[in-house]
Amino acid sequence: MDTQLRDLVVVITGASGGIGWACAEAFAAEGARLVLHAHRAGDELERRVAASTWGERAITLRGDLRDESTNEDLLRRGRERFGRVDVAVLSAGIWPPEPRPLWELDLPRIREVLDTNLLAVILGARAFLRGLAAAGPRSDGRGASLCLIGSTAGRFGEADHSPYAVTKAALAGLMRSLKNEIVRLDPYGRVNLVEPGWTVTEMARPALAEPGLLPRVLSTMPLRQLARPEDIARAVAVLSSPALARHISGEILTIAGGMEGRRLWGEGSIDVAEVQRRLDDDGPA
Ligand SMILES: NC(=O)c1ccc[n+]([C@@H]2O[C@H](COP(=O)([O-])OP(=O)(O)OC[C@H]3O[C@@H](n4cnc5c(N)ncnc54)[C@H](OP(=O)(O)O)[C@@H]3O)[C@@H](O)[C@H]2O)c1
Repeated sequence: MDTQLRDLVVVITGASGGIGWACAEAFAAEGARLVLHAHRAGDELERRVAASTWGERAITLRGDLRDESTNEDLLRRGRERFGRVDVAVLSAGIWPPEPRPLWELDLPRIREVLDTNLLAVILGARAFLRGLAAAGPRSDGRGASLCLIGSTAGRFGEADHSPYAVTKAALAGLMRSLKNEIVRLDPYGRVNLVEPGWTVTEMARPALAEPGLLPRVLSTMPLRQLARPEDIARAVAVLSSPALARHISGEILTIAGGMEGRRLWGEGSIDVAEVQRRLDDDGPA
């Protein structure tokens, strides 16, 4: 099936990361032109692009997306190189590896997560929509697409990572607002949110190596597997495709092997006999 992504110009943030890079490869395979962004791993991203078969259809940029100017520059450089930007995939984000309950978190860590995972996404979306407002819709009817990358943490919460969960939940509100704004700029413009569960990338590796975590998370998923970055990237490409997803906007696509939620208690941590006994008690437990 033709995705009609050929020659569209796609901005991808977090392209030096696992999911962002898989997105770059998925869009490149469909013939798109790419504006790829990295923060600290810019050299590595440049090397990978140079080694790819599609490097001449891509530019790479780097900077901290928490800065307003980095987001504006990213979109401006894309327009300068390719004439316009049609699709944005905002994948950059952080997951502080050490688990901490909220009462142990200091303000700098809370701020860093909110600024990177939420403020930077708002600024990136704004830069994309500003560009669309200036350029206008495409004349061929291929609508603009904005795809945000959330997380199952936003849906189910994430104990010991509450600021992260807050930012990912907030993306749903952003997405539902922007899907109603984008059509003022492009009648076929669409905004969606992809919500990965555990996906094997550098971000998730340290947590996945924690003893006991794997059986705990897999036990809530009928598919009993971790996602690969390509699983997320293919869904992002489908949602961004003006052919395959022409009439899909305002949706949250969860890619988590059917995840039911969180397993809170392990074997042996519930005293069933005690619970039964309390059923027979009259007063409050
Ligand atoms: N992996 C999972 O299990 C999982 C699950 C649910 C949701 N997600 C979400 O999926 C997205 C991608 O995650 P991933 O697994 O691909 O992580 P990753 O491999 O660690 O990549 C994260 C990307 O974000 C970039 N980044 C971080 N801080 C930045 C900043 N201040 N300015 C600009 N770029 C910044 C990094 O750039 P540099 O490396 O160049 O510094 C990197 O490209 C994130 O939004 C994450 O929350 C991941």
